Amino acid sequence: MIKIAPSILSADFSDLKSAIALCQSAGADYLHIDVMDGHFVPNLTIGPVVLKSIRPKTDLFLDVHLMVTNPEELIEPFVKAGADNITFHIEAVDNPVKIIKQIRSFNKQVGISIKPRTPLDVLDAYLEIIDLILIMSVEPGFGGQQYIFESTDRVKQLDKSLKILGIRKRVIIEVDGGIKLSNAKMIKDAGADILVAGSAIFSTDDPHSAIEQFKNI
Ligand code: DX5
Ligand code: ZN
Repeated sequence: MIKIAPSILSADFSDLKSAIALCQSAGADYLHIDVMDGHFVPNLTIGPVVLKSIRPKTDLFLDVHLMVTNPEELIEPFVKAGADNITFHIEAVDNPVKIIKQIRSFNKQVGISIKPRTPLDVLDAYLEIIDLILIMSVEPGFGGQQYIFESTDRVKQLDKSLKILGIRKRVIIEVDGGIKLSNAKMIKDAGADILVAGSAIFSTDDPHSAIEQFKNI
């Protein structure tokens, strides 16, 4: 069954408590936290203090997507605030192994994210030492953008590479950006294990039902 990670970026920030409770009761698997620094991407969002307030409100897995220039400075603050996973951008760092080791030192799940125009083969050297790959299917920075069609082939390609390496069962493929009920099955069939959805959940009249429908695609 596909896993669903609602992105709270599209929720009402003045009432995150309700949004989180809704995600949990509707059967969401992860809670996706979009961290933007106004530098790696032109938007500024959630810091560790917000995550710290979220942590005691839910048992959901807190999936932290760092869209920041200096992930090494934010890993410890986010782990201490309650992150279960830290995903950083391959484009943001010179020494990914150092960042991977830093996240591992806290016993947290390690993810690498890749922007739509970055060639997938930059991941090759790290596939065996990470837990999750986050394929961006929009340019990172904002919710509510249009899904980039070519992303589906990138998911298929990655799925194939992981199978060839014999690590497909261990490494999670997560896809993020522009995912709607109308394209979710196609992305799942391409090989995605987890779908992130923001506006397709929170910008609807019935977010609870949207999560349930995603789970049943
Ligand atoms: C984009 C973020 C996404 C975004 C998804 O930079 O990483 O997680 O919030 O939002 P939708 O589903 O609206 O594209
Ligand atoms: Zn994200």
